[in-house]
Amino acid sequence: MKGIILAGGTGSRLNPVTIAVTKHLLPVGEKPMIYYPISVLMFGGIKEVLIIARPEDITQFQRLLGDGSHLGLSIEYAEQPRPTGLADAFVIGADHIGDDSVALVLGDNIFHGPGFQNLLDEHTKDVQGCVLFGYGVKDPERYGVGETDALGRLVSIEEKPLRPRSNRAITGLYLYDNDVIDIAKNVRPSPRGELEITDVNRVYLERDRATMVDLGRGFAWLDTGTPESLLQASLYVRTLEERQGVRIACLEEIALRKGFIDADQCHRLGEALGNSGYGQYVMDIARELSA
Ligand code: DAU
Repeated sequence: MKGIILAGGTGSRLNPVTIAVTKHLLPVGEKPMIYYPISVLMFGGIKEVLIIARPEDITQFQRLLGDGSHLGLSIEYAEQPRPTGLADAFVIGADHIGDDSVALVLGDNIFHGPGFQNLLDEHTKDVQGCVLFGYGVKDPERYGVGETDALGRLVSIEEKPLRPRSNRAITGLYLYDNDVIDIAKNVRPSPRGELEITDVNRVYLERDRATMVDLGRGFAWLDTGTPESLLQASLYVRTLEERQGVRIACLEEIALRKGFIDADQCHRLGEALGNSGYGQYVMDIARELSA
C-alpha cells in the first residue's frame, strides 16, 4: 500500500501565522504538524510516501524530511499549485500509487488512541473498496458526515450538511483500492473547482464498496485548523507526553519499533537533534530498545 499526505491549501484560518509558513510545519507540541500524519502511515506499515504541497513550500518539507531514508522510508514530493480539492491527490499521485492500494491522510489531522496500530494493521492489509474512519463530534456540520444503519452499514455520506443525519464525522484518513484513481479522474469538480473526496466516497457507496470504521469514544481525533484548535492539540499532546514520559508521533521511535531502522541509526538521529528534549528522548529510546 502507498501513502499520500495532503499538505497544501492556504491555511487562511490561521493567518497571519500561515502567510510565511505552511500550517503543516507549525509546531504541535514540540514537533512539526506533518509528523503526525507521517506517523499514521508508518503505523500502517506504509513506507512509500508522497507529500503533496504548494510549490513554494516543498523546499521546507525537503529540508525537514529529505527523502525519508533516515527513517527507512521513501518520501517523494509533488506540487499542488492551488487547492483543487482532496480527491485531486489521486490524480496528482496516480504514478505514485501505480497499481497499488493507497492510504490518504490529511496533513492537518491528528489521530491518537489505544489500539490504533492494530486497527491500521487490520484495515491496510487487503483494502477492498474504500474504508473510512468515523468519529463522533458535537459539530458534524463542519465535516464530511457518514450515516450508518442499525447493522453499522454505511448508508449515506454528505459533505458539511446543514442538517447532519448523524454525529459521525468522516476523519481525514482514507483507505482505497486502486479504483480510486479512475473514480477521482471522473468526478465532476464542485462549483468552486474542487475535486471533492466526498464525491469519490459516494461512488464507492453507490457500488456498495464503502465501509466506515468507528474510532470510538476513547480515541482522540484532533483538528488543527484554527488558532484555538491548534493550541488545544498542542496541550493535549504535551499533557499526555509529560504525564506518561513517552512521545506521540516520534518518527524515529516508530521507525525503530517497526524495524525500519536499527538502534544505532536511531541513536545517531537523536544525536543530530542536539540537546533538545526530543533528541534526548530519541537517544534514550535507542538505548532502551538495544538493551
Ligand atoms: O478533517 C476532515 C475533513 O477534511 C473531512 O471531514 C471532510 O469531509 C473533508 O472535506 C475535509 O474538510 P476540511 O474543510 O477540513 O478540508 P480543508 O480544506 O481544511 O483541507 C484539509 C487538509 O487538506 C488541509 O491540511 C489542507 C489540505 N488540502 C486541502 C485542499 C482542499 C490540500 O492539500 N489541498 C487541497 O486542495
